Order: sequence, then C-alpha cells, then structure tokens
Amino acid sequence: MKLRTAVVGATGIAGQQFLTALWEHPFLEITCLAASARSAQKSYREAITQPNGQVAWYMSTPLPEKFASMTVLDSTALPLAELDLVFSAVESDAARELETSYAAHLPVISTASAYRYEDDVPIIIPAINGDHAGLVAAQRKNRNWKGFVLPIPNCTTTGLVIALAPLARTFGVDRVIMTSMQAVSGAGRSPGVIGLDIVDNIIPYIPKEEGKVERETQKILGALAGAGIQAAPFPVSCTCTRVPVLESHFEAVTVALSRSASVDEVKAAMREFGRDIGPRTHPSAPKNWIVVEEDPFRPQPRRDRDNDRGMATTVGRVREDRVLGPHGVKFCLVSHNTKMGAAMGAVLVAEDMRVRGLI
Ligand SMILES: NC(=O)c1ccc[n+]([C@@H]2O[C@H](COP(=O)([O-])OP(=O)(O)OC[C@H]3O[C@@H](n4cnc5c(N)ncnc54)[C@H](OP(=O)(O)O)[C@@H]3O)[C@@H](O)[C@H]2O)c1
Repeated sequence: MKLRTAVVGATGIAGQQFLTALWEHPFLEITCLAASARSAQKSYREAITQPNGQVAWYMSTPLPEKFASMTVLDSTALPLAELDLVFSAVESDAARELETSYAAHLPVISTASAYRYEDDVPIIIPAINGDHAGLVAAQRKNRNWKGFVLPIPNCTTTGLVIALAPLARTFGVDRVIMTSMQAVSGAGRSPGVIGLDIVDNIIPYIPKEEGKVERETQKILGALAGAGIQAAPFPVSCTCTRVPVLESHFEAVTVALSRSASVDEVKAAMREFGRDIGPRTHPSAPKNWIVVEEDPFRPQPRRDRDNDRGMATTVGRVREDRVLGPHGVKFCLVSHNTKMGAAMGAVLVAEDMRVRGLI
C-alpha cells in the first residue's frame, strides 16, 4: 500500500508542483489536499479558479482530473489519523503553526523556512548531508513529537550548495561570493511579482533572501555534532536579484579553494558528485546531480532548467580565478527553483527518509 500523503498549500506554485511530482509516484499517494480557509470545501478546480474565471494551473502538463475534483480541506483540519506524511508548501508564518501541529503526530517535509534555523532541525539534500537525519531523534525527544519536521533549503541555496559540496569535499572551501538572477515563479503566486515591475527590468533586492542563502549553505555543508550541526566555517556573501525569467535560478559563483585544483579537476569532482544517490534507490533523484557544460554559452535558464526532469544542477563556464585567494575557481549554474528547489526536492527527501526507515 502506498503512503497516504497530504499536500498543504496545494493551490500555490510549489503545491501544484507537488501534484505534478506525485501524480504517479511508486510509493506516495496524495489522499488529501489542503490550503487556506479561502479555498476550503471547494473542489480543487474551483479553488484555483480566479474571480475572472481563469483556471490558475501553472504547470505545463494538464491538471489531473483525479485532483481537479478532490475537495480542498482547511489546513487546520487535516485528518491526521488517516495520513502517513505531510508535505507543507505554505508561507513561513502560517507554516510555523501548522507544521508544529502536524509534527506532533506525523513526519512533515516542508518547502517553508519556518523551522530551517532551529538547532535540532537539519536541512537535508540527500547527496550532501543525509546523515544529518540523525537529528530527527533529538527533535522528537526535545519536542515530544511522534513525527518530525524536515525543511528543504531555500530554492537559491539548493543549486549553490550542490555545486559547492564536491568542492568542499575534494579541495576544501575558504570563501564564496555568489550573485543570483532569480525567476519570478520563486516569489510564488501571492503576492508574487507584478508584471509591470519585472518585465524589461531587474530588481536588485529580494527581502531576507541573501541572509537565508548564506546561513543555509553553512548549515548544510556543516557537520553533525552531538544534538546539533557545526556550521561550515567559510564565509558566504550573496547578492540576490529578480529577473524576468519564468522558472529557474541562475547563479554566478566565485570560490576560494583551500588547495590548488585545475579546472579539469574541479569539473571531474562535480561530475562524480552524487553517484551513490540515483533513481534506483530514490525515484526522484537525478542520474547526474551536476551536469557540467563545455559550451561557453551555457548554462541558460530556458535550455538547461529541465535537465534530468528539473533535478540536475547545470554548471558551465568553469574557469580559474585568483581574486579571492591563490586557489580559486568561478562558474555559472542553473537550478530549477520549483522542481529540485521545491516540490521534487522535498519528495526526494521523503524518498531518502524511507530508505533510512524514518517514514
Ligand atoms: N515558488 C518557489 O519557487 C518556491 C521554492 C522553494 C520554496 N518555496 C516556499 O514554498 C512555500 C509556498 O510558496 P509558493 O511559491 O507556492 O506560494 P504561493 O504560490 O503564494 O502559494 C501559497 C499557498 O499557501 C496557501 N496558504 C496561504 N496562507 C495559508 C494559511 N494560513 N493556511 C494554509 N494555507 C495557506 C495558499 O492557499 P490559498 O490558495 O487557499 O490562499 C497557497 O496554496 C513558501 O514558504 C515558499 O517560500 C517556494
């Protein structure tokens, strides 16, 4: 029997990606859709229909009929006894209260930031720090929960940390500078980004984003230490901008390495990364976690975001750089913000927790 799964925030951008990701999943089945009181007791199709009649389904594949006719529940009234797992995709303030009430009973995997910075809460990307799941026991004990909360990273952190992980492991990392050019879908549907502001434009500030990416990168690349995580010691400095791209975040990254490495060695470390976590054990995992492009005009959001179903991080323009230190490299990357960076990334964490016997 498949695990009975709820998607909370099912009507939003990340929520719609969950419906698409779980439509034919081998061991997870959506049995419950939930959102705010505004959507509750409507059919899913009615809930996403705008006052002007537009059906606001943003995915490129059609809305599955099975979900269209399901009744959306109020997120405060989930039938917890009839569920095995909750995916949470609501904004952070609502997430804090909702996830606390669900985790008392069930595992919760979340796209929201509400719990990301708590000492007993790891931020897991399976190929990097699956061992941080060891903190689940501490979380249950500290909070007297039967379940747990595992948040995935901010969608801008995801691509950065995947590209840095093989460098940190193989050569060591001393300093990082990153500038992002982020897709409009990353701001969600509500309030989202207004077309008048973003078309023909770049917005140089995304509130709270830079601090999140800096802190999460250090936490994910840190080490499990007792009942917490010892953050990676290297400084990370980010500038996060919004650009008129629909899906996927582009990032320009400069890294000071701890020891010398040629461009070819850096590319080889990236290409080898994540080989032990693939589709055979984790159905949503990419075959190649990092695709390294040799074409100097890549990666590009439109051409590379859907590599390996939107789960690969595509890196290009790898070259030497001496500005941050004697052993440096710089490169560009593209990472899909609503697939690997949201719903499918969260489904991948669920798959990893199943392998570990935690769900
Ligand atoms: N978009 C991305 O690329 C992305 C990537 C990674 C992480 N995230 C995170 O994922 C979460 C959702 O983002 P999004 O982009 O999908 O936002 P969104 O499109 O604005 O959708 C928000 C969802 O939350 C629901 N909601 C709002 N207030 C609620 C409440 N009080 N109780 C229950 N449900 C409530 C909405 O339901 P109604 O329709 O009923 O209002 C809707 O389903 C956020 O925490 C965001 O930071 C997003």
